[in-house]
Amino acid sequence: MALGNRAAGSATTRDRIILALDVSSLADALSLVKATRESVGMYKVGMELFYSVGIPGLRAVMSEGVSVFLDLKLHDIPTTVERASRVLAATGVAMLNVHCLGGLRMMKAAADAVGSLQDGSARHAKVIGVTVLTSLSQDEVTSELGIERPLVDQVTALALNAKKAGLDGVVASPWEVSSIRKACGDGFAIVTPGVRPRWAGVDDQRRVTTPGEAIRSGADYVVVGRAVTRDKDPRSAAARVLTDIEAELGECEC
Ligand code: C5P
Repeated sequence: MALGNRAAGSATTRDRIILALDVSSLADALSLVKATRESVGMYKVGMELFYSVGIPGLRAVMSEGVSVFLDLKLHDIPTTVERASRVLAATGVAMLNVHCLGGLRMMKAAADAVGSLQDGSARHAKVIGVTVLTSLSQDEVTSELGIERPLVDQVTALALNAKKAGLDGVVASPWEVSSIRKACGDGFAIVTPGVRPRWAGVDDQRRVTTPGEAIRSGADYVVVGRAVTRDKDPRSAAARVLTDIEAELGECEC
């Protein structure tokens, strides 16, 4: 099914599904890629896999011919993030991310560093900002982190900062997507983890919806992890996620 025009362009439903390769061995990661590639548009390499297999392992995943989102959530002083972003983007990943709470200067340093690679041999990676982790609830954000404003306002303000810094989009929960879309417009990518098919458990996530609801409310990409990777049969679980989204969207021109 082809979907309409947001940051992911005229992407198909499959293009919008990112599978989180949250495993610690390259063999497990590659077998997940092989089993699910017909239903998945991009693979997310996060801290567990990257810290286990490093850049050689990352290259081995990419050598399967799949797009990779490198989810290391960089958060440090601007110079450090700038230099790290350049190293990571030069590997040829399609997407990488930094924390919005690192501030405007830090986000701009990452965007500029990756942008400066465009004329070189490296492919241009999208740089996106992590707003507020989908595992955090309003209560935790208020009582532990001392952030008084409603989560949706906090996330939208961080997304606007990310846009101002020149980032290509943000990671946010499905609950904040429509507010971000309204504030940041169509060309800005929104990636939503914390999605759960109706048949899967919620685990440690808090601000969740189904993948179809996330896309319907304006997300460009949904990140699916344990619902597929911990299933006895990841191939059919990934296929079910794809057909569920298509069924949920129906004829909607999202
Ligand atoms: O297993 P599950 O579907 O909850 O996996 C979600 C994935 O998305 C994990 O790899 C997690 O690190 C990542 N993520 C998230 N919330 C964010 C950013 C990334 O859950 N805000």
